[in-house]
This record gives sequence, C-alpha cells and structure tokens, in this order.
Amino acid sequence: RCNVFIGDILTTLPCFLEQILSMVYLYGGHVTSWKNDHGEELLFVSSKAIFKPPKAIRGGIPICFPQFSNHGSLEQHGFARNRFWSIDTDPPPFPTNSSSKAFVDLILKPSEEDLKIWPHSFEFRLRVTLGPGGDLMLTSRIRNTNVEGKPFTFTFAYHTYFSVSDIRKGCCFGLAYLLLFSEVRVEGLETLDYLDNLKNKERFTEQGDAITFESEASPGNHLLVPDSCYVDKIYLSTPTKIAILDHEKKRTFVIRKDGLPDAVVWNPWDKKAKAMADFGDDEYKHMLCMETAAVEKAITLKPGEEWRGRQELSAVPSSYCSGQ
Ligand code: BG6
Repeated sequence: RCNVFIGDILTTLPCFLEQILSMVYLYGGHVTSWKNDHGEELLFVSSKAIFKPPKAIRGGIPICFPQFSNHGSLEQHGFARNRFWSIDTDPPPFPTNSSSKAFVDLILKPSEEDLKIWPHSFEFRLRVTLGPGGDLMLTSRIRNTNVEGKPFTFTFAYHTYFSVSDIRKGCCFGLAYLLLFSEVRVEGLETLDYLDNLKNKERFTEQGDAITFESEASPGNHLLVPDSCYVDKIYLSTPTKIAILDHEKKRTFVIRKDGLPDAVVWNPWDKKAKAMADFGDDEYKHMLCMETAAVEKAITLKPGEEWRGRQELSAVPSSYCSGQ
C-alpha cells in the first residue's frame, strides 16, 4: 500500500484522506477502489486478483503505457502497470479545474531493464484526486527526458473496470427484453467508427442507439441463441463525455476525458473469463471496462516535450439523463 502525499487534507478533508489511503497501490500506480457517499464500491476488482508482480492487478484502473494492448512489440498493455511507482514528493504544479486538495502524486521512471526493452527515457507523473463531490480524477503527465535528442512514440489507456449490476440482462433474454429492460448501456459511442479487436482490428461503424450487450456472433438472433457477448472494441474520435447507465443500481457513471480521443469497451464474457487465471468464472457479469485511450493515433514526444491525459469519473443517481 502506498503512503500518501498529504498536502493539507488532514485538517480539511479527513474522510477523503482515509479513502485515498486505501485506494492507490504503488504497484502499477494502480487505483483499486473508489466509493460513493454510501460506502458502495464503484470499481470492480476480481476476487482472484494478484497484487504483486509479474501480473497487473485485475480490476480497478490499470495504466496501459507505453503500449495499449498488443498494438506494438512490447508486452500486452506495456510495462507501467506492473512496475513499482514512487511517491512524487516534489511534483510540479498540476493545472486542475478542481479545488480539491485530496490527492496522491506518483512517479514512474524507467529502470535499466526497462530501457533495454523500450530505450526511451521518460518521467511519468500521475496525480489521483478525489473531488469534493466524490469524483475521481486521474491526470497523467508524460515527459520525454531523452538527452540524445530522440523523440518517442507511445499509446496509452486508463483501463477502468466499472462495477455494474448484471451486464447480461438484455443480452440473452429475447429482443423485447433487450429493448425494454437493458440494465446496462453505454451512451456517447453510437454511430462512431471502431476497430474490432475480435475481428483482426477491422474498422466498422457502430449503428443505432446506445450500446447494449447483445450477441456479437449472431446479430439479430439473440432471441433464439444465448450467444456470447464478448466485446473488445476501440471506438475512435469519441466525445469528451461518455456515460454508462445501470438501471438496476439506479446509477450512471459519467466519464469525462481530455487528451484521450479513443474509448475501448471490453467484457470477456463467459468463455474468455474461464480462460483467465486471475478472473472468476462468473465475474464478467458484474464488470464493464470503459477505457479512455489514445490508440489509433500514437502520441509522439520530442525531447523535453510533455503530454497530458486526464480522466474524470462521476457516479450520479439514475435520475441523471444523458445530455444534461
Ligand atoms: C483490453 C483489450 O483493453 O484489455 C483486450 O482491448 C484485452 O484485448 C483486455 O483482452 C485485458 O487485457 P489483460 O492483458 O489485462 O488481460
């Protein structure tokens, strides 16, 4: 567990201090918990998650850097998620539009071993902030510190695992059920182009209304075939606000982002879940990954340049309507 940068939150926001202490691991610079005012956990973490190397923690918010997924020659999702980060005791000023002082500053620099697999010197600063209303903000600042004048290129994602009631409802119970009672749906990605990781990263255009989790394998046939809803799509040039509506929990997650044009939607469904050692067989029902990302257009930094990517999460009661 990490010791935190305290600032002056001890005197002003003691309950936030307790919360922030329990939510960030130095291993991976990884947020593993985010709770609402009622103490309900909003992020999913697998009961089989392993909190030590070499695997990343299964759940919470892994950081994918310097490579998203298998889009390159590095290990899946890059190495930042399975390295030990440090507390940044002397962070430069972070521009933020929040007045919150409840935050943790972490830093990752490459080790000698890292430089052998990715020969680029960088400083990755991560600020995790809890807003006064309970919002969770992650701000990443990545700087090219190469002295030899070499630029570098990377892809990135905040691989957030949201906790949801039951993603299957609306999937395998027939068309009428799907249309009327979809429990979990995503708004903000309709009509966008996406790359389908399950179809050789081919490009498609999303049709219709909000995204629900119906059969990929047999579209239009979910009335008869309780097929898999395994989804692994990279939506491109997405809006700065995306919402996950969970009717049963009467909750909407609102995801706001800056510097992160893409959004990945992933749920392994049953077969893939069973094949994952650090994931319970039935846990796919209660999670949905919505990953704010920069994948399609990789980011290039010249020496001395810095990139910023910010994600802000809110959980609001379901009376919230999209567009408000
Ligand atoms: C998603 C990818 O971001 O992460 C999927 O799009 C991948 O292809 C998933 O399966 C989980 O990856 P990992 O390495 O954490 O098992």
